[in-house]
Amino acid sequence: MATLAINGGTPVRARAYPSWPPTDDEEYVAAVGEVVRSGDWGGFPEPGQRGDAFEKAFAAYQGARHGILMMNGTVTMEVALKALGIGWGDEVIIPALTFAATAYAPMAAGALPVIVDVAPDTWCIDPDLVEAAVTPRTRAIMPVHLGHQMADMDRIMNIARRHGLAVVEDCAHAHGQQWSGQGAGCIGDFGSFSHQSSKILTSGEGGTLLTNDETLARRAHSIVDCGRAKDPDEKEYTFGANYRLSELNAALLVVAMKRFPAQQAERAIAGKRLEALAAEIPGVRVMPADARITRWSFYNYLLAIDPDAFAGRTNEVVCEAMEAEGIPAEVQYPPMNHYELFQPSLSRLPVAVEFADRLDPTRMSFPVAEAAGLRESVYFMENTFRDGEQGVQDAADALAKIQAHADELPAS
Ligand SMILES: Cc1ncc(COP(=O)(O)O)c(C=O)c1O
Repeated sequence: MATLAINGGTPVRARAYPSWPPTDDEEYVAAVGEVVRSGDWGGFPEPGQRGDAFEKAFAAYQGARHGILMMNGTVTMEVALKALGIGWGDEVIIPALTFAATAYAPMAAGALPVIVDVAPDTWCIDPDLVEAAVTPRTRAIMPVHLGHQMADMDRIMNIARRHGLAVVEDCAHAHGQQWSGQGAGCIGDFGSFSHQSSKILTSGEGGTLLTNDETLARRAHSIVDCGRAKDPDEKEYTFGANYRLSELNAALLVVAMKRFPAQQAERAIAGKRLEALAAEIPGVRVMPADARITRWSFYNYLLAIDPDAFAGRTNEVVCEAMEAEGIPAEVQYPPMNHYELFQPSLSRLPVAVEFADRLDPTRMSFPVAEAAGLRESVYFMENTFRDGEQGVQDAADALAKIQAHADELPAS
């Protein structure tokens, strides 16, 4: 008789995890209803009343002086680079293990993404490789705080200061995190957050930039509002597009922000519990959150499996088996050189032609990101951490069961 659910056995978990975004919270419904009745559906004049309220509340929670709300957590990074004056002929260093958006943003601003490998103990950008990739054209570093980790911001800020580079933190996974008491997104020049449906602070779509610099904040507000001037004298026009978010989305975020601190504290407890349980499973390597993360909050929890301890099976089939056991799990990101969403050859940017060799995926090599993306990484999805002790116990039980019966898994 089959044991593993993927082969027809009984799943570890029969009950679905709580849905996300929440579907049964009347305050969200009332907030949207109120916008509908007000007639102020759009985001113009920018920022809208609710957008402004959210920007202030979120910036205060992370510890930034300014927040700039916009359509998603992709254009946030493009706007940040443009506000910093980064474009044609410039280079921006990004990690090899991230969502395609981190590579898209420099190209959308007209710059070249220079991709470097990640560190084996965090799967965030490797500071040694960042240092080695700096050239006279380098203008910025874009670390990604991946999964439950943060990039080594001490090293990155040090490199940035020594070379006169800007830092744009991709915090799409890091709402609520703090590094040595400083909020994610408040350490570099800009922090970029996504509020897309699956994220832990969501309005379905949306993104926020944080910054402590008033001039940069004004420029970013201007760029998302078709270039309209935002200084009191109305002199500082920029070249912009319409990336405004609607007040319908902003109203959802105002409610989400009220819920967030309690949710963040709960997930930190659940995350620690999963970490302890998973560490006991043979062939599973947990990467405990860096001790410098002083407030832990995270999107997905990521760990590494050793295929040798899983009868040669790799992460993709293990995640499929997890899903069958009732536990949402994903490989998440392939390394950038194997990523079908990273298509630099389609770019018509002159800079891409000039640097064609550095944008050619066949000439790239990222041993750590390749091992993570193609063989080892298993992401426990965010709703695993919304069902108390049982939620994470089930997740750990499922992984332990799959490991114990790995030789029954379909071939990788
Ligand atoms: C690491 C990372 N960066 C950027 C983004 C882009 O955010 P959005 O989907 O809001 O454009 C995401 C979203 O999935 C992400 O995971």
